[in-house]
Amino acid sequence: MIAIGCDHGGYELKLAVESYLNDHKLEFTDCGCSGEKVDYPDIAEKLCAKITSGECDRGILICGTGIGMSMCANKVKGIRAAVCGDTFSAKYTRIHNDANVLCMGGRVIGAGLALEIVREFLNNEFEGGRHIARLEKMQKMEGK
Ligand code: RB5
Repeated sequence: MIAIGCDHGGYELKLAVESYLNDHKLEFTDCGCSGEKVDYPDIAEKLCAKITSGECDRGILICGTGIGMSMCANKVKGIRAAVCGDTFSAKYTRIHNDANVLCMGGRVIGAGLALEIVREFLNNEFEGGRHIARLEKMQKMEGK
């Protein structure tokens, strides 16, 4: 299950991503907003709770730049959020970093590119191997 959320800066792009998920028969739960002005930390917190509880395995957060959402998400233990504005980063943040949350900027990239980014993020898996020790060091930094 995928969790998706946005603030007012990411609302239009979230609708495009939700259409993509529907078209590909990918189940998702919407953590808001519905276009009204909201504070992005509230949405990030709600979405991250769905990941850390195990209800969802991946998240997509969209604000104006993707940056505020990623800053908030990365404060939550167990969350590895990556802001992506290109497909290469979206692919390798899954393969190398085992990112569980994708952040994008609705005021930065268009829907065409964003959907390609989502596709790479959802269709790639963590490679393990040499990256495991690096993730363990990352987890140590968050006090696990
Ligand atoms: C909201 O205006 C804007 O600050 C927010 O969407 C985001 O870009 C923050 O990082």
